[in-house]
Amino acid sequence: MEAALLERDKIGVQDFVLLHDHLSLDEFLSNLEKRFKHDLIYTYIGPVLVSVNPYKELSIYSAEVMDLYRSEDFYELPPHVFALSDAAYRYMIDENRDQCVLISGESGAGKTEASKKILQYIAKASRHSKEVEDVKERLLESNPLLEAFGNAKTNRNDNSSRFGKYMDIQFDFQGIPVGGHILNYLLEKSRVVRHVGGERNFHIFYELLNSGDVVLLEKLCLSSDPHDYFYLKQGGVGSETTVHDNNMFKVVKHALDVCDFGQDQQQDLFAIVACVLHLGNLTFVQERGSRTQIPDEKCISIICKLLGCEENLLYTALLNRTVPAKDDEIKTPLSVEQAYQARDALAKAVYDRMFTWLVHRINDSLMSQKKERKMLFGLLDIYGFEIFESNGFEQFCINYCNEKLQQLFIELTLKSEQEEYLREGIEWEPVEYFNNKIICDLIDSKPMGMIAIMDEECVRPGEATDETFLTKMSDNIGKHDHFTSYECTDKTTKKTISRTEFRLKHYAGDVTYSVSGFLEKNNDLLYRDLKKVMTQTSNSVTLDMFNKEELEIKKRPESAATSFKQSLSKLMNILMSKEPSYVRCVKPNDSKRSSIFSRSIVEHQVKYLGLMENLRVRRAGFAYRRPHRFFLQRYKSLCPATWPHFSGSDRDGVQTLVNHLNYEEEDYRLGISKIFIRLPKVLFATEELLQARKHQLATSIQAKYKGFYTRKNFLRMRVAVIMIAKHWRRVMARRLLEKRKWAVQVIRKYIKGFMLRNEPECEENRGFIHFTRYNYLTRLRDNLPKSVLDKNWPAAPRLVQEANDYMRELYMSNMVRRYCTAMSPEKKARMEEKVVAETIFKDKKSSYPASIRQPFHHFTVTQIPGLQGITGLNQLHTQVFSKLSKKLDPPEEIVYACPATKFDRNGYKNRDRLFMLANNAIYLVAEKKEIKDVILFNSLKSISVSPFGDNILVLHLHPNDYGVKGDVILQTPNVFETCTKIANQVKNPELINIISKGVLVCIKHSLKTGKEGMIEFSEGPIAKTTKGKNGHLCVISSA
Ligand SMILES: Nc1ncnc2c1ncn2[C@@H]1O[C@H](COP(=O)(O)OP(=O)(O)O)[C@@H](O)[C@H]1O
Ligand SMILES: [Mg+2]
Repeated sequence: MEAALLERDKIGVQDFVLLHDHLSLDEFLSNLEKRFKHDLIYTYIGPVLVSVNPYKELSIYSAEVMDLYRSEDFYELPPHVFALSDAAYRYMIDENRDQCVLISGESGAGKTEASKKILQYIAKASRHSKEVEDVKERLLESNPLLEAFGNAKTNRNDNSSRFGKYMDIQFDFQGIPVGGHILNYLLEKSRVVRHVGGERNFHIFYELLNSGDVVLLEKLCLSSDPHDYFYLKQGGVGSETTVHDNNMFKVVKHALDVCDFGQDQQQDLFAIVACVLHLGNLTFVQERGSRTQIPDEKCISIICKLLGCEENLLYTALLNRTVPAKDDEIKTPLSVEQAYQARDALAKAVYDRMFTWLVHRINDSLMSQKKERKMLFGLLDIYGFEIFESNGFEQFCINYCNEKLQQLFIELTLKSEQEEYLREGIEWEPVEYFNNKIICDLIDSKPMGMIAIMDEECVRPGEATDETFLTKMSDNIGKHDHFTSYECTDKTTKKTISRTEFRLKHYAGDVTYSVSGFLEKNNDLLYRDLKKVMTQTSNSVTLDMFNKEELEIKKRPESAATSFKQSLSKLMNILMSKEPSYVRCVKPNDSKRSSIFSRSIVEHQVKYLGLMENLRVRRAGFAYRRPHRFFLQRYKSLCPATWPHFSGSDRDGVQTLVNHLNYEEEDYRLGISKIFIRLPKVLFATEELLQARKHQLATSIQAKYKGFYTRKNFLRMRVAVIMIAKHWRRVMARRLLEKRKWAVQVIRKYIKGFMLRNEPECEENRGFIHFTRYNYLTRLRDNLPKSVLDKNWPAAPRLVQEANDYMRELYMSNMVRRYCTAMSPEKKARMEEKVVAETIFKDKKSSYPASIRQPFHHFTVTQIPGLQGITGLNQLHTQVFSKLSKKLDPPEEIVYACPATKFDRNGYKNRDRLFMLANNAIYLVAEKKEIKDVILFNSLKSISVSPFGDNILVLHLHPNDYGVKGDVILQTPNVFETCTKIANQVKNPELINIISKGVLVCIKHSLKTGKEGMIEFSEGPIAKTTKGKNGHLCVISSA
């Protein structure tokens, strides 16, 4: 860490611990001065922040800088009040420990500014959300409000806090601000009626007068010139209003709105402020021999109007005093002097109570709605040590307060630190420091402390004055080292002190107090008459401030000093219960100048603030300490031997842990109950390891949890699955059982039905019969014949035999009927031809059965089957046909044609011909489209066909007919079709003669010469037609 710090430390050192000679005050001051000259106003002494008032605006408080400091480690960035705030804030959240920041220093050293910066930082660093913004705004706005009423310009500080303030910011467990609470201490109320030259009264008076709000001023009967008011014009030059006042009035108004002050309440509040000013302008006169009077009654009527009370009541109360006598009360008139005193007392009391009322109202608006325990972040900004030319009761109280705070600082840092080392058994060389307990005791011990003496003097019977008080002190504590008065000192000192003064040797220096006013201020008396009038006002704020019960209390109220002492003691307890952080403020000069560093002034502060002792203890000591248990608890995850649990003692655990972390011998000490770590860098390194380890741990916790969760889920699901499966199996088993039972019934019924199937239908066989029928019908439906020729029909059981026969007949006839009705006339004609062919050929020619399936053709002139194979005739087309037919005599219609082979009668040479059948004759057309043969039907005697599979037909002609040259031998592609067509045309099926099978099957045919030729038919393995050696035509058809 040092190396890093030094590297950044271009100017001086950022931490006094790093000074070369930490015992040298000179070196300390030089470092402070060097840094101050470069606007580096912050320097550390370990965790304590030393701040030097720059008396000028620096650019180190922007939002960007806040972001920079957020969540950075304390020593990672240059010293800053933000770093301190961040560390305390984070410590509070991480460790759940209440914090407090103690800001100390002389008046004008920058305490209030520092506290504002801390508050701003906390507001910025904590989480943002709508509701939180509201709380934050109130916390922030409470500041200017209280400053307006409680701060004033003094000769040391233009914005000096004239009251002590302790503010608790409340956070929920996440570190979100949820509320706040303010404690106020001893307002310097004497300032309301008196202030010294160059100073001013409380800001609010000037801010109100310079508000520019004419309507408001008119309502309050105020002018805008402070010199019109006695209470404001005592400061002379330098106590005027400024432009700043005008702006601040707007800020105050806004703050009042934010903190929930209603408009009426605000009016009443300003009425009281105005009322105080008017009170100051009240004058008293006493004509000789008469009572004291108020010459200007206008003033009193304004006051009464503002407070809402009866004029004569106030008038009487201001000029008289009622003293209780035995059973009665005696009213005694006041002298002019007493009247002035009463007036001032009233003004002070009214202002003081108004201030306390204001704090209470602010607290109401800051009050958190949440009930749960809150973490507290305390900010103490209390008046600093003061030495004026003339010091009175207020300075005495203020300086006493600072003594107490110094005591606390000593308790918490120097003393406790050293005691701790001793207690923990760590070798230690004690550091000398001045313990101011002796001064605190001088002031507040009993019975001979100064406060005790003062209280006694106030209540004792007889004439008690400030002087008698001084004498009493000289008598009782005159010998004390820290007390001096004129009466009990040597000659040389007598020259510096008057008879009405005493001197206290404070830890921060000698202060001479003028005793005058001590008793009166300590008594803090406001005549009962005036209190009573205040309870009878109609102003809501005064009514709140003065209650009637107070009038009933006969007991003497606590003296001012004692109640201050008590509230301080309470404050000390509050602070002691928290983890403290320190800001030690130093002012560089007495003249509020930005660039002057007065060594002597700073040296004085450094001395009395005990900064050198602080540094010495720090250098000798350890930066960090934690009870073994907490240290082990926090870092045990970094060592396998201590994670997750260490079985031995906490101290052994810590020892194991630091051994594992390789701490150097010099880096740490193990005390009896705590570990001490010398340098922050060692802790930071460990902390960094922890941060890295946290991620690992988080991952493994996540994994474990996911595993656990999934397994739990799985087990739950498994139980559910088993349960469902069990029930489902039962359902299934039951269903199976039902089904089997049913099946048994069905089978039994079926068998019984089967056995009784031939009996008349009865209960037992009805089911079977139905089933059989049903079964039969469905089978039949699926296996019905598809065509007329399909003769398959499913077998039927006996039970339905009769019905089956009917159905078969019906179905078949229906199918035939449908077939017939669907048939075209042409097809019908073909079919009829087929019937004719059957009558001619059935059982007579062996190739006939095979030809049945071969359909006969419907003749058209364009479709002559087989014609393509015949060269020369293949170009025959319609025209040629019609030409040919026209050649016929008489012209005829050709009804059939087919290619044919004509065998020559004589040599059986074969020739291609077209066979054409017309109305009256058969024509044979040769290749060249000439009609070669005309066979008139009249000449046709018969036609012979063999019983075998050949296609030869012999047309026998009447030999004597004209032109007949003999019988014609033809071969056509389909002898059955050709013959049938001819028979149909001739209308004589008998014309066809099929030779019966015999040993020798032959057909004789006639030749022109009257001779005969012979055609022999036989069956053989290969079909062929040849001329035999015997001169016959041999036709072999394949068997
Ligand atoms: N950090 C700072 N930056 C700029 N000016 C500062 C700073 N601290 C103090 N001052 C100046 O010093 C004046 C007195 O400071 P203040 O905080 O009121 O003193 P204290 O409260 O200790 O009496 C402020 O009004 C301001 O002008
Ligand atoms: Mg202040």
